[in-house]
Amino acid sequence: MQVIFIGDIVGSVGRKALRAVLPAIKTQYPRALLIANGENAAGGRGITQQIAREFYEQGISAITLGNHTWDQKEIFDFIDDESRMIRPANFPEGTPGLGSTVVKAKEGEVLLINLQGRTFLPPIDCPFRKVDEILEEAQGRYKYIIVDFHAEATSEKIAMGWYLDGRVSAVVGTHTHVQTHDERILPHGTACLTDIGMVGPRDGILGMERNAVIQKFVTQLPVRFNVDEGKWHFHAVFIEFNDSTGLAESIKLIRYDEDSFIFA
Ligand SMILES: [Fe+2]
Ligand SMILES: [Fe+2]
Repeated sequence: MQVIFIGDIVGSVGRKALRAVLPAIKTQYPRALLIANGENAAGGRGITQQIAREFYEQGISAITLGNHTWDQKEIFDFIDDESRMIRPANFPEGTPGLGSTVVKAKEGEVLLINLQGRTFLPPIDCPFRKVDEILEEAQGRYKYIIVDFHAEATSEKIAMGWYLDGRVSAVVGTHTHVQTHDERILPHGTACLTDIGMVGPRDGILGMERNAVIQKFVTQLPVRFNVDEGKWHFHAVFIEFNDSTGLAESIKLIRYDEDSFIFA
């Protein structure tokens, strides 16, 4: 089993990058299941049903979200009908949408779980206890289990990796929009990466127009942030799993830049 997990897709530039890169990814990794984080897909804030459909049509099998899940009002009209789109599982009980889902791949079923960290983010339920609950409910039914831990603090993400080592196939991070270089397979077979990075404007600040962000830091006054319109970069991770154990065999970072990307 092979999976390509694509980092937070940010705004129209991010969607353009996805359209540019996906054909090459599909040629190079024809067997890989494609999963993406879509929490910033609509103008940097949330996702719409139309955008989700575009992602599915391009071959994305499932979409994870994060702290921007509710930014588009229309999310409430469709999230309950979505089986391939998940929001963090540790949002309060009764929150619309699913926190985990089962994705069907040729090699078998994948349990995909979305969690959100609590360090420098709103105080929601405990992601560690929540993932224990989900795994207990799953009762070993799924060979492949992939966790998107949407969190700010590197320590919290690394802690989750070690906490789940040997119990899930992979723990990958999203949210910071900066790809980390710490991809590894832990001793009991769980592939880990603190943050996958992003798909979107390369020369902004985390995807936002940089002058506004700098102005905010310099003046401390309220400033409206808009998604940057410049060139893109594309960050993802490729992970290969053993089909008898479901544990990871290799993990590799993927990085493309609009200037050097050549359609393969
Ligand atoms: Fe994000
Ligand atoms: Fe986020």
